[in-house]
Amino acid sequence: MRVSHKNRIQGPKHFLSVDDFTIDEYKKLFLDTATIKAEWQNSTHEIFIPCENKRTLVSLLFTQPSTRTSGSFEKAAQALGCNVTTLHVSSSSIAKGESYRDTAMMAGLAANVLVVRHKGKEGTLQRLADKIFPRHDALRNVAIVNAGEGTGEHPTQALLDMYTIHEKFGNIKGLRIGVYGDLKYGRTTHSLLRLGSRFGAQFVCISPEDLSMPKRHLQYAANFGPKPTCTKNIHDVINELDVLYVTRLQREYRPDKLHHEPKEKISGYGVTPKLLKLFPKHSVVMHPLPRLDELPTECDKDPRVIIVSQAYNGIMARTALLRYILQCAKGASFRP
Ligand code: NCD
Repeated sequence: MRVSHKNRIQGPKHFLSVDDFTIDEYKKLFLDTATIKAEWQNSTHEIFIPCENKRTLVSLLFTQPSTRTSGSFEKAAQALGCNVTTLHVSSSSIAKGESYRDTAMMAGLAANVLVVRHKGKEGTLQRLADKIFPRHDALRNVAIVNAGEGTGEHPTQALLDMYTIHEKFGNIKGLRIGVYGDLKYGRTTHSLLRLGSRFGAQFVCISPEDLSMPKRHLQYAANFGPKPTCTKNIHDVINELDVLYVTRLQREYRPDKLHHEPKEKISGYGVTPKLLKLFPKHSVVMHPLPRLDELPTECDKDPRVIIVSQAYNGIMARTALLRYILQCAKGASFRP
Protein backbone atom coordinates (compact mmCIF):
# COMPACT_ATOMS: atom_id res chain seq x y z
CA MET A 1 0.00 0.00 0.00
CA ARG A 2 1.24 3.47 -0.81
CA VAL A 3 2.40 5.66 2.03
CA SER A 4 -0.27 8.15 2.89
CA HIS A 5 0.73 11.73 3.43
CA LYS A 6 -1.08 11.50 6.78
CA ASN A 7 2.06 9.77 7.92
CA ARG A 8 4.24 12.74 7.15
CA ILE A 9 5.26 14.66 10.22
CA GLN A 10 4.36 18.04 8.91
CA GLY A 11 3.23 19.64 5.74
CA PRO A 12 0.28 20.83 3.72
CA LYS A 13 -2.83 18.73 3.24
CA HIS A 14 -2.24 17.14 -0.15
CA PHE A 15 -4.95 15.10 -1.88
CA LEU A 16 -3.11 12.93 -4.39
CA SER A 17 -4.95 9.66 -3.96
CA VAL A 18 -8.22 8.66 -2.34
CA ASP A 19 -6.01 6.77 0.12
CA ASP A 20 -4.80 10.09 1.56
CA PHE A 21 -7.95 10.79 3.59
CA THR A 22 -9.52 8.74 6.35
CA ILE A 23 -13.13 7.57 6.27
CA ASP A 24 -13.86 10.11 9.01
CA GLU A 25 -12.48 12.87 6.82
CA TYR A 26 -14.73 11.73 3.95
CA LYS A 27 -17.74 11.69 6.25
CA LYS A 28 -16.95 15.22 7.32
CA LEU A 29 -16.55 16.26 3.68
CA PHE A 30 -19.93 14.68 2.81
CA LEU A 31 -21.61 16.66 5.60
CA ASP A 32 -19.84 19.85 4.54
CA THR A 33 -20.80 19.26 0.90
CA ALA A 34 -24.47 18.85 1.85
CA THR A 35 -24.38 22.08 3.88
CA ILE A 36 -22.60 23.97 1.13
CA LYS A 37 -25.09 22.68 -1.42
CA ALA A 38 -28.04 23.85 0.68
CA GLU A 39 -26.46 27.25 1.25
CA TRP A 40 -25.52 27.58 -2.40
CA GLN A 41 -29.08 26.86 -3.44
CA ASN A 42 -30.41 29.39 -0.91
CA SER A 43 -27.78 31.89 -2.03
CA THR A 44 -26.87 32.68 1.56
CA HIS A 45 -23.21 31.79 1.06
CA GLU A 46 -22.62 32.22 4.76
CA ILE A 47 -20.21 29.39 5.08
CA PHE A 48 -17.87 30.40 2.32
CA ILE A 49 -15.62 32.47 4.48
CA PRO A 50 -12.23 30.94 5.05
CA CYS A 51 -10.47 33.48 2.86
CA GLU A 52 -10.44 36.48 5.13
CA ASN A 53 -6.96 36.80 3.74
CA LYS A 54 -7.54 38.28 0.33
CA ARG A 55 -4.32 36.83 -0.99
CA THR A 56 -5.47 33.23 -0.65
CA LEU A 57 -4.72 31.77 -4.04
CA VAL A 58 -5.82 28.59 -5.75
CA SER A 59 -3.70 27.86 -8.81
CA LEU A 60 -4.89 25.44 -11.48
CA LEU A 61 -2.49 23.72 -13.86
CA PHE A 62 -4.11 21.60 -16.56
CA THR A 63 -1.97 19.86 -19.11
CA GLN A 64 -4.93 17.85 -20.40
CA PRO A 65 -8.33 19.03 -21.55
CA SER A 66 -10.95 19.56 -18.87
CA THR A 67 -14.44 21.01 -18.68
CA ARG A 68 -15.99 19.93 -15.39
CA THR A 69 -12.95 19.54 -13.17
CA SER A 70 -11.28 22.84 -14.00
CA GLY A 71 -14.61 24.69 -14.15
CA SER A 72 -15.82 23.35 -10.84
CA PHE A 73 -12.53 24.07 -9.09
CA GLU A 74 -12.67 27.64 -10.38
CA LYS A 75 -16.25 28.08 -9.21
CA ALA A 76 -15.47 26.48 -5.85
CA ALA A 77 -12.40 28.65 -5.23
CA GLN A 78 -14.28 31.80 -6.22
CA ALA A 79 -17.19 30.92 -3.95
CA LEU A 80 -14.70 30.66 -1.10
CA GLY A 81 -13.41 34.13 -1.85
CA CYS A 82 -10.04 32.91 -3.12
CA ASN A 83 -8.17 34.29 -6.07
CA VAL A 84 -7.83 31.81 -8.90
CA THR A 85 -5.32 31.46 -11.72
CA THR A 86 -5.60 28.81 -14.41
CA LEU A 87 -2.76 27.70 -16.63
CA HIS A 88 -3.52 25.48 -19.61
CA VAL A 89 -0.80 23.63 -21.45
CA SER A 90 -1.40 25.38 -24.77
CA SER A 91 -0.75 28.78 -23.22
CA SER A 92 2.17 27.73 -21.02
CA SER A 93 5.87 27.29 -21.71
CA ILE A 94 5.28 23.55 -21.90
CA ALA A 95 4.48 24.40 -25.51
CA LYS A 96 8.13 25.62 -25.77
CA GLY A 97 9.41 22.41 -24.26
CA GLU A 98 9.58 23.38 -20.60
CA SER A 99 9.43 20.37 -18.31
CA TYR A 100 6.29 19.49 -16.45
CA ARG A 101 8.14 19.72 -13.18
CA ASP A 102 9.36 23.28 -13.78
CA THR A 103 5.92 24.35 -14.94
CA ALA A 104 4.31 22.87 -11.85
CA MET A 105 6.80 24.69 -9.61
CA MET A 106 6.02 28.00 -11.29
CA ALA A 107 2.27 27.39 -11.07
CA GLY A 108 2.69 26.64 -7.37
CA LEU A 109 4.50 29.90 -6.54
CA ALA A 110 2.53 32.15 -4.16
CA ALA A 111 -0.38 29.67 -4.20
CA ASN A 112 -2.00 28.06 -1.18
CA VAL A 113 -3.37 25.19 -3.23
CA LEU A 114 -2.14 23.86 -6.57
CA VAL A 115 -4.72 21.80 -8.46
CA VAL A 116 -3.01 19.73 -11.14
CA ARG A 117 -4.11 17.56 -14.02
CA HIS A 118 -1.61 15.88 -16.28
CA LYS A 119 -1.37 13.06 -18.72
CA GLY A 120 2.06 11.86 -17.68
CA LYS A 121 3.36 9.08 -15.52
CA GLU A 122 1.54 8.12 -12.38
CA GLY A 123 3.53 9.10 -9.29
CA THR A 124 4.67 12.45 -10.70
CA LEU A 125 2.46 14.40 -8.30
CA GLN A 126 3.59 12.30 -5.36
CA ARG A 127 7.18 13.14 -6.27
CA LEU A 128 6.38 16.83 -6.49
CA ALA A 129 4.76 16.70 -3.07
CA ASP A 130 7.35 14.52 -1.37
CA LYS A 131 10.60 15.61 -2.97
CA ILE A 132 10.43 18.68 -5.18
CA PHE A 133 8.20 21.17 -3.38
CA PRO A 134 9.64 20.58 0.13
CA ARG A 135 13.09 21.61 -1.17
CA HIS A 136 11.95 25.19 -1.73
CA ASP A 137 10.84 27.69 0.89
CA ALA A 138 8.53 29.21 -1.69
CA LEU A 139 6.74 25.92 -2.34
CA ARG A 140 6.82 23.75 0.74
CA ASN A 141 3.51 24.98 2.13
CA VAL A 142 1.57 24.52 -1.10
CA ALA A 143 -1.08 21.80 -0.91
CA ILE A 144 -1.26 19.76 -4.13
CA VAL A 145 -4.55 18.34 -5.34
CA ASN A 146 -4.64 15.65 -8.00
CA ALA A 147 -7.24 16.62 -10.60
CA GLY A 148 -6.59 13.51 -12.68
CA GLU A 149 -3.20 11.91 -13.20
CA GLY A 150 -2.60 9.84 -16.33
CA THR A 151 -4.12 6.41 -16.07
CA GLY A 152 -3.71 6.45 -12.29
CA GLU A 153 -6.20 8.17 -10.06
CA HIS A 154 -8.76 10.97 -10.04
CA PRO A 155 -9.51 11.37 -6.34
CA THR A 156 -11.67 14.49 -6.44
CA GLN A 157 -13.95 12.77 -8.97
CA ALA A 158 -14.29 9.84 -6.55
CA LEU A 159 -15.10 12.30 -3.78
CA LEU A 160 -18.01 13.77 -5.71
CA ASP A 161 -19.10 10.34 -6.97
CA MET A 162 -19.16 8.89 -3.46
CA TYR A 163 -20.96 11.95 -2.19
CA THR A 164 -23.58 11.56 -4.94
CA ILE A 165 -24.09 7.89 -4.09
CA HIS A 166 -24.30 8.69 -0.38
CA GLU A 167 -26.77 11.49 -1.07
CA LYS A 168 -28.97 9.17 -3.11
CA PHE A 169 -28.93 6.09 -0.86
CA GLY A 170 -28.12 7.51 2.58
CA ASN A 171 -25.38 4.90 2.99
CA ILE A 172 -22.72 3.16 0.95
CA LYS A 173 -22.00 -0.09 2.78
CA GLY A 174 -23.52 -3.09 1.01
CA LEU A 175 -24.46 -1.22 -2.17
CA ARG A 176 -23.68 -3.00 -5.41
CA ILE A 177 -21.77 -0.72 -7.73
CA GLY A 178 -21.00 -1.75 -11.29
CA VAL A 179 -18.12 0.09 -12.94
CA TYR A 180 -18.49 -0.33 -16.65
CA GLY A 181 -16.30 0.35 -19.66
CA ASP A 182 -12.62 1.14 -19.95
CA LEU A 183 -11.43 0.09 -16.52
CA LYS A 184 -7.83 -0.32 -17.58
CA TYR A 185 -7.17 3.31 -18.44
CA GLY A 186 -10.14 5.00 -16.74
CA ARG A 187 -8.69 6.69 -13.67
CA THR A 188 -12.11 7.66 -12.31
CA THR A 189 -12.99 3.98 -11.89
CA HIS A 190 -9.70 3.27 -10.09
CA SER A 191 -10.36 5.91 -7.47
CA LEU A 192 -14.03 4.98 -7.14
CA LEU A 193 -13.22 1.31 -6.62
CA ARG A 194 -10.57 2.08 -4.00
CA LEU A 195 -12.69 4.53 -2.07
CA GLY A 196 -16.04 2.74 -2.40
CA SER A 197 -14.54 -0.53 -1.21
CA ARG A 198 -13.28 1.19 1.92
CA PHE A 199 -16.86 2.26 2.55
CA GLY A 200 -17.99 -1.37 2.20
CA ALA A 201 -19.57 -1.24 -1.27
CA GLN A 202 -19.54 -4.42 -3.34
CA PHE A 203 -18.03 -3.71 -6.75
CA VAL A 204 -18.60 -5.50 -10.01
CA CYS A 205 -16.11 -4.64 -12.75
CA ILE A 206 -17.72 -4.92 -16.17
CA SER A 207 -15.38 -4.62 -19.14
CA PRO A 208 -13.94 -6.39 -22.14
CA GLU A 209 -10.96 -8.49 -21.12
CA ASP A 210 -8.34 -6.18 -22.62
CA LEU A 211 -9.74 -3.20 -20.71
CA SER A 212 -10.11 -4.87 -17.33
CA MET A 213 -9.45 -3.27 -13.95
CA PRO A 214 -5.72 -3.38 -13.05
CA LYS A 215 -4.92 -6.07 -10.50
CA ARG A 216 -3.42 -3.69 -7.97
CA HIS A 217 -6.72 -1.82 -7.62
CA LEU A 218 -8.65 -5.11 -7.32
CA GLN A 219 -6.18 -6.24 -4.69
CA TYR A 220 -6.49 -3.00 -2.76
CA ALA A 221 -10.29 -3.21 -2.83
CA ALA A 222 -10.21 -6.80 -1.59
CA ASN A 223 -7.85 -5.83 1.23
CA PHE A 224 -10.01 -2.97 2.46
CA GLY A 225 -13.54 -4.07 1.58
CA PRO A 226 -15.64 -6.77 -0.10
CA LYS A 227 -13.76 -8.61 -2.85
CA PRO A 228 -14.79 -7.20 -6.25
CA THR A 229 -16.10 -9.52 -8.93
CA CYS A 230 -15.52 -9.15 -12.68
CA THR A 231 -17.58 -9.94 -15.75
CA LYS A 232 -17.48 -9.23 -19.46
CA ASN A 233 -21.22 -9.20 -19.85
CA ILE A 234 -23.36 -6.45 -18.40
CA HIS A 235 -26.46 -8.61 -18.78
CA ASP A 236 -25.07 -10.92 -16.08
CA VAL A 237 -25.44 -8.20 -13.43
CA ILE A 238 -27.61 -5.34 -14.69
CA ASN A 239 -30.66 -6.38 -12.66
CA GLU A 240 -28.69 -6.61 -9.40
CA LEU A 241 -26.98 -3.22 -9.38
CA ASP A 242 -27.72 -0.16 -7.27
CA VAL A 243 -25.31 2.00 -9.24
CA LEU A 244 -24.12 1.61 -12.81
CA TYR A 245 -21.05 3.80 -13.34
CA VAL A 246 -20.42 4.11 -17.07
CA THR A 247 -17.16 5.36 -18.59
CA ARG A 248 -15.97 6.17 -22.09
CA LEU A 249 -13.15 4.45 -23.93
CA GLN A 250 -9.95 6.33 -23.08
CA ARG A 251 -8.76 6.41 -26.68
CA GLU A 252 -5.98 8.87 -25.95
CA TYR A 253 -4.15 6.24 -23.90
CA ARG A 254 -4.58 3.33 -26.23
CA PRO A 255 -1.58 2.31 -28.25
CA ASP A 256 -3.79 0.76 -30.93
CA LYS A 257 -5.90 2.09 -33.77
CA LEU A 258 -8.92 2.93 -31.60
CA HIS A 259 -7.16 6.18 -30.84
CA HIS A 260 -7.63 7.25 -34.44
CA GLU A 261 -11.07 5.84 -35.04
CA PRO A 262 -13.53 7.49 -32.72
CA LYS A 263 -16.43 5.75 -34.41
CA GLU A 264 -15.17 2.29 -33.61
CA LYS A 265 -17.20 0.51 -30.97
CA ILE A 266 -16.64 -2.52 -28.84
CA SER A 267 -19.45 -4.84 -29.69
CA GLY A 268 -22.31 -4.69 -27.20
CA TYR A 269 -20.64 -2.03 -25.05
CA GLY A 270 -22.76 0.83 -23.80
CA VAL A 271 -26.12 1.67 -22.29
CA THR A 272 -29.35 1.86 -24.28
CA PRO A 273 -32.95 2.56 -23.29
CA LYS A 274 -33.56 -1.15 -23.94
CA LEU A 275 -30.83 -2.14 -21.48
CA LEU A 276 -32.24 0.26 -18.90
CA LYS A 277 -35.49 -1.71 -18.94
CA LEU A 278 -33.55 -4.44 -17.13
CA PHE A 279 -32.13 -2.02 -14.58
CA PRO A 280 -33.79 -1.89 -11.11
CA LYS A 281 -36.19 0.98 -10.48
CA HIS A 282 -34.38 2.29 -7.40
CA SER A 283 -30.96 2.31 -9.08
CA VAL A 284 -28.97 5.11 -10.72
CA VAL A 285 -26.73 5.51 -13.75
CA MET A 286 -23.68 7.73 -13.31
CA HIS A 287 -20.92 8.85 -15.66
CA PRO A 288 -17.93 11.12 -14.90
CA LEU A 289 -18.28 12.67 -18.40
CA PRO A 290 -17.30 13.45 -21.08
CA ARG A 291 -19.42 10.80 -22.74
CA LEU A 292 -19.23 9.48 -26.25
CA ASP A 293 -21.71 6.96 -27.56
CA GLU A 294 -21.64 4.62 -24.54
CA LEU A 295 -24.43 6.64 -22.88
CA PRO A 296 -26.52 8.19 -25.66
CA THR A 297 -28.53 11.32 -24.88
CA GLU A 298 -31.75 9.41 -25.49
CA CYS A 299 -31.11 7.76 -22.10
CA ASP A 300 -31.24 11.16 -20.35
CA LYS A 301 -35.04 11.07 -20.23
CA ASP A 302 -34.76 8.26 -17.72
CA PRO A 303 -34.74 9.86 -14.23
CA ARG A 304 -32.34 7.19 -13.04
CA VAL A 305 -29.64 8.79 -15.21
CA ILE A 306 -28.29 11.39 -12.78
CA ILE A 307 -25.25 12.69 -14.63
CA VAL A 308 -26.14 16.38 -14.38
CA SER A 309 -26.72 16.37 -10.63
CA GLN A 310 -23.55 14.30 -10.30
CA ALA A 311 -21.56 17.01 -12.13
CA TYR A 312 -23.29 19.72 -10.09
CA ASN A 313 -22.23 17.96 -6.91
CA GLY A 314 -18.69 18.29 -8.19
CA ILE A 315 -18.77 22.03 -7.54
CA MET A 316 -20.12 21.49 -4.04
CA ALA A 317 -17.73 18.68 -3.12
CA ARG A 318 -14.72 20.63 -4.41
CA THR A 319 -15.80 23.67 -2.42
CA ALA A 320 -15.88 21.50 0.71
CA LEU A 321 -12.50 20.01 -0.18
CA LEU A 322 -10.75 23.34 -0.80
CA ARG A 323 -12.20 24.79 2.36
CA TYR A 324 -11.00 21.79 4.36
CA ILE A 325 -7.50 22.00 2.90
CA LEU A 326 -7.32 25.73 3.62
CA GLN A 327 -8.58 25.20 7.15
CA CYS A 328 -5.95 22.49 7.73
CA ALA A 329 -3.27 24.92 6.55
CA LYS A 330 -4.52 27.55 8.97
CA GLY A 331 -4.31 25.14 11.89
CA ALA A 332 -0.83 23.95 11.05
CA SER A 333 2.52 25.60 11.38
CA PHE A 334 4.71 25.07 8.37
CA ARG A 335 8.14 26.15 9.44
CA PRO A 336 10.97 25.26 7.10
C1 NCD B 1 -12.66 12.15 -16.43
C2 NCD B 1 -11.15 12.25 -16.45
O1 NCD B 1 -10.59 13.26 -16.78
O2 NCD B 1 -10.55 11.25 -16.05
N1 NCD B 1 -13.29 13.38 -16.66
C3 NCD B 1 -13.63 14.15 -15.59
O3 NCD B 1 -12.78 14.65 -14.90
N2 NCD B 1 -14.91 14.28 -15.29
C4 NCD B 1 -13.20 11.06 -17.28
C5 NCD B 1 -12.79 10.97 -18.71
O4 NCD B 1 -12.07 11.80 -19.25
O5 NCD B 1 -13.24 10.01 -19.33
